[in-house]
Amino acid sequence: MPAYIVIGAQWGDEGKGKIVDVLAEKMDLVLRFQGGANAGHTVLHGNTKYVTHLVPSGVISGCSMNIIGNGCVVCPLTLLEEMRILEKQGIAFSPQNFALSGSAHMVLPVHKYLDKCLNEKIGTTVRGIGPAYTDKVQRTGIRWETVSAGTFEAAYHEHLDLVEKVYAVIDKAELEELRRALPQLLETVEILKPYIRDIRPLLSRALSENKNILFEGAQGTFLDIDHGTYPFVTSSSTSIGGAFTGSGVFLDFDKRIGIVKSYTTRVGEGPFPTELFDETGERLRRNGNEYGATTGRSRRCGWLDLALLKRSCLINGFNYLVFSKISCLSGLGPLKVAVDYDAAGKAIYTELPGWEEDLEGCRDFNALPKNCQTYIRFVEDFLQVPIGLVSTGPDRNNVILRKALFSS
Ligand code: IMP
Repeated sequence: MPAYIVIGAQWGDEGKGKIVDVLAEKMDLVLRFQGGANAGHTVLHGNTKYVTHLVPSGVISGCSMNIIGNGCVVCPLTLLEEMRILEKQGIAFSPQNFALSGSAHMVLPVHKYLDKCLNEKIGTTVRGIGPAYTDKVQRTGIRWETVSAGTFEAAYHEHLDLVEKVYAVIDKAELEELRRALPQLLETVEILKPYIRDIRPLLSRALSENKNILFEGAQGTFLDIDHGTYPFVTSSSTSIGGAFTGSGVFLDFDKRIGIVKSYTTRVGEGPFPTELFDETGERLRRNGNEYGATTGRSRRCGWLDLALLKRSCLINGFNYLVFSKISCLSGLGPLKVAVDYDAAGKAIYTELPGWEEDLEGCRDFNALPKNCQTYIRFVEDFLQVPIGLVSTGPDRNNVILRKALFSS
């Protein structure tokens, strides 16, 4: 049973969408195990651009079953809106190809409101993620199974009564507004009701039938609630551990694929030892079009941080790396990579020679400039994990395959 997992090795936005899309084509089941609409996966098929936030990317390539696992937090309004947009692009949804775990928690309008009020210092995506997970852990959240059980409406009122008691930040007028959101929510969850399932039987059937399974991570390892740069993190387990709690099944993943951007970016606040504040950082932002798919915010850019990535490999046990956006490094001059930190936490760099050539669309490793080959080999040697695939452009065909992606 070939099982694959794709995880962002840095702070998210490593280009997971494209690889997941390539993999998903051969998958029988794709599952999202954490996060919510804070994620944004962009996939380019020819001239058509698809952006998914909540639904697994497998829907785009026509994978036969796509699951939102219990580890996710899902806003009914956002989910339905996303499905409608994808339907307009020709993607079909039915309970035969899409399921939402009844144990997943809901993101409600009140969570988005609280996110805006409480989480400014983190620089969140304001999608209600932190407050929804807070409710989950506090055991005051609303799970999707309440819709199937017919208890959602009562739970909604009970939840807002509790919110009124706990949060002084919400005034009477705002509460009224939140109560008025109920009819639209009721209408929406009714439409989504056929998709709500106990996902365990789906997973155990896929396992017993030796199906190809892909777990699709969102965000990146250093946004993990436990292993990331706390408190400047998201509220879910973005690293490999989240795959198990977020699905309710143990999988001995054949390929644990880490997506590594060939430089570093992060959105929002928090430490970033290799951040560049100069013209080079600006050029990386321009070359890589480093603006968020979810919020449109410009991303902070910096040199590749191998000390950070070494830790990512330890956390996730990667056995295959994808090196993305290499074409964005052309023309930058000598390239620095952080190999350690000093006592004050400042990055210690090694400098490698750069290259001028445009690499966009290159598909042959030997056709890459020698300095680019050296850069890739340096990373691989440092991390002691093979770089199996190098991505050289946004299109799904712009890849250099060095090591088979699929297990036979
Ligand atoms: P939240 O996930 O909206 O609570 O935001 C927490 C932190 O994670 C903020 O710094 C966000 O910018 C960051 N974040 C959340 N989702 C993503 C993502 O998909 N890519 C990159 N950063 C993200």
